[in-house]
Amino acid sequence: MLEARNLSVSYGRTQAVQNMSIQVQAGEIVTVLGANGAGKTSLLKALQGVVRPATGEVLFKGASILSHSAAKRVSEGLVLVPEGRQIFVSLSVHDNLLMGAYTRKDQPEREIDAIYQRFPNLAQRRDMPASVLSGGEQQMLAIGRALLSRPSLMMLDEPSLGLSPLLVKALFSLITELNRDGLAILLVEQNTHMALATAHRAYVLELGRLVLEGKASALASDPRMAEAYLGA
Ligand SMILES: Nc1ncnc2c1ncn2[C@@H]1O[C@H](COP(=O)(O)OP(=O)(O)OP(=O)(O)O)[C@@H](O)[C@H]1O
Ligand SMILES: [Mg+2]
Repeated sequence: MLEARNLSVSYGRTQAVQNMSIQVQAGEIVTVLGANGAGKTSLLKALQGVVRPATGEVLFKGASILSHSAAKRVSEGLVLVPEGRQIFVSLSVHDNLLMGAYTRKDQPEREIDAIYQRFPNLAQRRDMPASVLSGGEQQMLAIGRALLSRPSLMMLDEPSLGLSPLLVKALFSLITELNRDGLAILLVEQNTHMALATAHRAYVLELGRLVLEGKASALASDPRMAEAYLGA
């Protein structure tokens, strides 16, 4: 469904992503792991079209989307829940959700109701500014907002960051549930244990390079995992 071929991202002299090739098939949860600065966010930004790759190709549903804007990619079904959530704290919870439907021409009200059913805490706070939400609720809002674009593939950048262990568990259950409902998932995580327990396949990055890939269950017990986290 999503494929990056030989993708590179540079910021000046910093090569954040070097010649990386990854794939996400329909129905999969794929996780991308790696230490701070490994290039995880840069990879997702290049896939979403927020940063322009220096080299490489991005294919979505079989066609190149390299020349498509980030907004166009969202309307085509590829959505990113960014690092740090990036919700609009001065807007109400409801208006934040409406923003998620901006690429659509039809009325999202029924789907917003479905989001409220899934996340009752958001329903109770629908008219409050998003700034009143807890970290976990903000993450639910960010995911709810992304769902309103009707994605076929959702990318999440470190969604568990800063959440309590209980909320982390709930978040990973939600990811599994969304996947069972047909959503393909590309999940960037530093919670290696939970990510490998949840994903089908995994890629491990180290200093901008892909160093390991394979079935999540196999990587969970691979001694090379620890090495990748020590860096070079
Ligand atoms: N806008 C930028 N300008 C310059 N350098 C950047 C920029 N964004 C990222 N970098 C650098 O690119 C490299 C990869 O960063 P990136 O944010 O992609 O890593 P990451 O794996 O997401 O890290 P983290 O786990 O801390 O979120 C790092 O060396 C970082 O300092
Ligand atoms: Mg990052």
